[in-house]
Amino acid sequence: MRTPVEIWIIEHRQVIEHADRLVDLLAPDDIQSQISNPDNKLLRNQIADCLDAFIEISEGHYRDEENLLIPAIIEHIGSENLEIKHALGCFTREHGQMHEFVVRIRELLPVLRSGDKIESSITAEILRTSYASQSLIRNHSAMEEKEVYPLVGKLPMKVVAEIFEKIGGGQDMNLEHLIRPLYGKSAEEGDTAEGEKKFKYGADGMDFYSEG
Ligand SMILES: [Fe+2]
Ligand SMILES: [Fe+2]
Repeated sequence: MRTPVEIWIIEHRQVIEHADRLVDLLAPDDIQSQISNPDNKLLRNQIADCLDAFIEISEGHYRDEENLLIPAIIEHIGSENLEIKHALGCFTREHGQMHEFVVRIRELLPVLRSGDKIESSITAEILRTSYASQSLIRNHSAMEEKEVYPLVGKLPMKVVAEIFEKIGGGQDMNLEHLIRPLYGKSAEEGDTAEGEKKFKYGADGMDFYSEG
Protein backbone atom coordinates (compact mmCIF):
# COMPACT_ATOMS: atom_id res chain seq x y z
CA MET A 1 0.00 0.00 0.00
CA ARG A 2 1.22 3.51 -0.78
CA THR A 3 1.62 5.57 2.37
CA PRO A 4 2.17 9.22 3.31
CA VAL A 5 5.69 8.27 4.40
CA GLU A 6 6.72 7.94 0.77
CA ILE A 7 5.79 11.55 0.17
CA TRP A 8 7.25 12.81 3.42
CA ILE A 9 10.62 11.17 2.81
CA ILE A 10 10.82 12.79 -0.61
CA GLU A 11 10.02 16.16 0.97
CA HIS A 12 12.77 15.58 3.55
CA ARG A 13 15.28 14.94 0.77
CA GLN A 14 14.18 18.05 -1.10
CA VAL A 15 14.54 20.39 1.87
CA ILE A 16 17.84 18.80 2.88
CA GLU A 17 19.19 19.62 -0.58
CA HIS A 18 18.38 23.27 0.10
CA ALA A 19 19.85 23.08 3.61
CA ASP A 20 23.12 21.59 2.38
CA ARG A 21 23.29 24.08 -0.47
CA LEU A 22 22.88 26.85 2.08
CA VAL A 23 25.81 25.56 4.11
CA ASP A 24 27.94 25.49 0.94
CA LEU A 25 26.98 29.08 0.13
CA LEU A 26 27.98 30.17 3.62
CA ALA A 27 31.34 28.40 3.59
CA PRO A 28 33.73 31.22 2.53
CA ASP A 29 35.75 32.81 5.36
CA ASP A 30 34.64 36.29 4.38
CA ILE A 31 30.99 35.34 3.97
CA GLN A 32 29.75 38.01 6.41
CA SER A 33 31.33 40.83 4.43
CA GLN A 34 30.11 39.26 1.18
CA ILE A 35 26.53 39.19 2.47
CA SER A 36 26.86 42.70 3.81
CA ASN A 37 27.84 44.07 0.39
CA PRO A 38 24.77 45.08 -1.69
CA ASP A 39 26.69 44.31 -4.89
CA ASN A 40 26.48 40.59 -4.06
CA LYS A 41 22.85 40.41 -5.13
CA LEU A 42 23.10 36.91 -6.61
CA LEU A 43 24.59 35.40 -3.45
CA ARG A 44 22.03 37.11 -1.25
CA ASN A 45 19.18 35.86 -3.42
CA GLN A 46 20.55 32.31 -3.43
CA ILE A 47 20.71 32.35 0.37
CA ALA A 48 17.18 33.78 0.52
CA ASP A 49 15.87 31.06 -1.82
CA CYS A 50 17.25 28.34 0.47
CA LEU A 51 15.67 30.02 3.48
CA ASP A 52 12.37 30.20 1.58
CA ALA A 53 12.43 26.39 1.34
CA PHE A 54 12.62 26.25 5.15
CA ILE A 55 9.48 28.37 5.42
CA GLU A 56 7.73 26.15 2.93
CA ILE A 57 8.48 22.91 4.77
CA SER A 58 7.67 24.39 8.15
CA GLU A 59 4.27 25.59 7.00
CA GLY A 60 3.40 22.62 4.79
CA HIS A 61 5.05 19.32 5.65
CA TYR A 62 5.53 20.08 9.37
CA ARG A 63 1.92 21.25 9.75
CA ASP A 64 0.64 18.15 7.96
CA GLU A 65 2.58 15.94 10.36
CA GLU A 66 1.29 17.91 13.34
CA ASN A 67 -2.32 17.96 12.18
CA LEU A 68 -2.64 14.50 10.62
CA LEU A 69 0.08 12.13 11.77
CA ILE A 70 0.47 12.91 15.45
CA PRO A 71 -3.28 12.91 16.30
CA ALA A 72 -3.62 9.56 14.46
CA ILE A 73 -0.72 8.04 16.42
CA ILE A 74 -2.12 9.26 19.73
CA GLU A 75 -5.64 8.04 18.93
CA HIS A 76 -4.82 4.64 17.44
CA ILE A 77 -1.52 3.67 19.08
CA GLY A 78 -1.36 5.84 22.20
CA SER A 79 1.57 7.66 23.73
CA GLU A 80 2.04 5.69 26.96
CA ASN A 81 4.88 3.55 25.65
CA LEU A 82 8.15 5.26 26.70
CA GLU A 83 9.77 5.05 23.28
CA ILE A 84 6.74 6.54 21.59
CA LYS A 85 6.51 9.20 24.29
CA HIS A 86 10.17 10.09 23.75
CA ALA A 87 9.77 10.23 19.96
CA LEU A 88 6.69 12.42 20.17
CA GLY A 89 8.42 14.70 22.70
CA CYS A 90 11.38 15.22 20.31
CA PHE A 91 8.97 15.72 17.46
CA THR A 92 7.05 18.46 19.27
CA ARG A 93 10.13 20.31 20.53
CA GLU A 94 11.85 20.25 17.15
CA HIS A 95 8.79 21.39 15.24
CA GLY A 96 8.38 24.23 17.75
CA GLN A 97 12.01 25.26 17.24
CA MET A 98 11.64 25.19 13.47
CA HIS A 99 8.55 27.38 13.60
CA GLU A 100 10.52 29.85 15.75
CA PHE A 101 13.36 29.89 13.23
CA VAL A 102 10.83 30.59 10.50
CA VAL A 103 9.56 33.66 12.35
CA ARG A 104 13.12 35.01 12.31
CA ILE A 105 13.73 33.93 8.70
CA ARG A 106 10.66 35.91 7.65
CA GLU A 107 12.24 39.02 9.18
CA LEU A 108 15.63 38.37 7.59
CA LEU A 109 14.43 37.68 4.02
CA PRO A 110 13.44 41.27 3.12
CA VAL A 111 16.82 42.46 4.42
CA LEU A 112 18.64 39.88 2.28
CA ARG A 113 16.62 40.82 -0.79
CA SER A 114 17.01 44.56 -0.26
CA GLY A 115 19.63 46.53 -2.12
CA ASP A 116 21.01 47.89 1.16
CA LYS A 117 24.23 47.26 3.01
CA ILE A 118 23.59 44.82 5.86
CA GLU A 119 25.02 45.45 9.33
CA SER A 120 27.38 42.88 10.79
CA SER A 121 25.02 42.06 13.67
CA ILE A 122 22.38 41.07 11.08
CA THR A 123 24.78 39.08 8.90
CA ALA A 124 25.80 37.19 12.03
CA GLU A 125 22.14 36.50 12.71
CA ILE A 126 21.63 35.25 9.15
CA LEU A 127 24.51 32.82 9.67
CA ARG A 128 23.29 31.65 13.07
CA THR A 129 19.72 31.09 11.89
CA SER A 130 20.86 29.33 8.72
CA TYR A 131 23.18 26.91 10.49
CA ALA A 132 20.70 26.23 13.27
CA SER A 133 17.89 25.55 10.78
CA GLN A 134 20.06 23.30 8.64
CA SER A 135 21.16 21.26 11.61
CA LEU A 136 17.65 20.95 12.96
CA ILE A 137 16.21 19.92 9.59
CA ARG A 138 18.81 17.18 9.12
CA ASN A 139 18.55 15.82 12.67
CA HIS A 140 14.79 16.07 12.83
CA SER A 141 14.31 14.28 9.51
CA ALA A 142 16.60 11.46 10.61
CA MET A 143 14.86 11.09 14.00
CA GLU A 144 11.47 11.07 12.38
CA GLU A 145 12.37 8.49 9.74
CA LYS A 146 13.82 6.24 12.41
CA GLU A 147 11.39 6.67 15.28
CA VAL A 148 8.12 8.18 14.11
CA TYR A 149 7.41 7.07 10.55
CA PRO A 150 7.60 3.34 11.37
CA LEU A 151 4.54 3.92 13.59
CA VAL A 152 2.51 4.59 10.44
CA GLY A 153 2.70 0.84 9.82
CA LYS A 154 0.75 0.27 13.04
CA LEU A 155 -2.12 2.59 12.10
CA PRO A 156 -5.35 1.21 10.59
CA MET A 157 -5.07 1.11 6.80
CA LYS A 158 -8.12 3.33 6.42
CA VAL A 159 -6.47 6.08 8.50
CA VAL A 160 -3.23 5.82 6.53
CA ALA A 161 -5.17 6.05 3.26
CA GLU A 162 -7.02 9.15 4.49
CA ILE A 163 -3.77 10.90 5.44
CA PHE A 164 -2.25 9.90 2.09
CA GLU A 165 -5.19 11.41 0.26
CA LYS A 166 -5.17 14.62 2.33
CA ILE A 167 -1.51 15.34 1.59
CA GLY A 168 -2.04 14.91 -2.14
CA GLY A 169 -0.94 11.30 -2.45
CA GLY A 170 -3.64 10.65 -5.06
CA GLN A 171 -1.68 12.69 -7.55
CA ASP A 172 0.66 10.94 -9.91
CA MET A 173 4.09 11.09 -8.31
CA ASN A 174 7.53 10.07 -9.33
CA LEU A 175 8.97 8.13 -6.39
CA GLU A 176 12.22 7.29 -8.12
CA HIS A 177 14.28 9.29 -5.70
CA LEU A 178 13.31 7.44 -2.56
CA ILE A 179 16.75 7.04 -1.08
CA ARG A 180 18.47 5.62 1.90
CA PRO A 181 17.55 6.49 5.50
CA LEU A 182 19.35 9.50 6.92
CA TYR A 183 20.39 7.91 10.19
CA GLY A 184 23.18 5.80 8.80
CA LYS A 185 23.54 2.10 8.49
CA SER A 186 20.39 0.29 9.46
CA ALA A 187 20.55 -2.78 11.68
CA GLU A 188 18.67 -4.54 8.93
CA GLU A 189 20.93 -3.35 6.16
CA GLY A 190 22.83 -6.29 4.82
CA ASP A 191 26.44 -6.29 3.81
CA THR A 192 25.47 -6.17 0.19
CA ALA A 193 27.72 -4.66 -2.41
CA GLU A 194 27.48 -0.94 -3.15
CA GLY A 195 24.58 -0.47 -5.52
CA GLU A 196 22.60 -3.34 -4.06
CA LYS A 197 22.03 -2.01 -0.56
CA LYS A 198 18.63 -2.54 0.90
CA PHE A 199 17.06 -0.75 3.80
CA LYS A 200 14.02 -1.84 5.66
CA TYR A 201 11.83 -0.14 8.21
CA GLY A 202 10.73 -2.58 10.81
CA ALA A 203 7.09 -1.72 11.38
CA ASP A 204 4.35 -3.84 9.89
CA GLY A 205 3.53 -2.98 6.34
CA MET A 206 6.24 -0.34 6.22
CA ASP A 207 8.98 -1.85 4.18
CA PHE A 208 10.90 0.65 2.09
CA TYR A 209 13.79 -0.40 0.05
CA SER A 210 16.39 1.67 -1.67
CA GLU A 211 18.69 0.58 -4.37
CA GLY A 212 22.17 2.02 -4.23
FE1 LIG B 1 8.59 16.61 11.36
FE1 LIG C 1 8.96 15.15 8.41
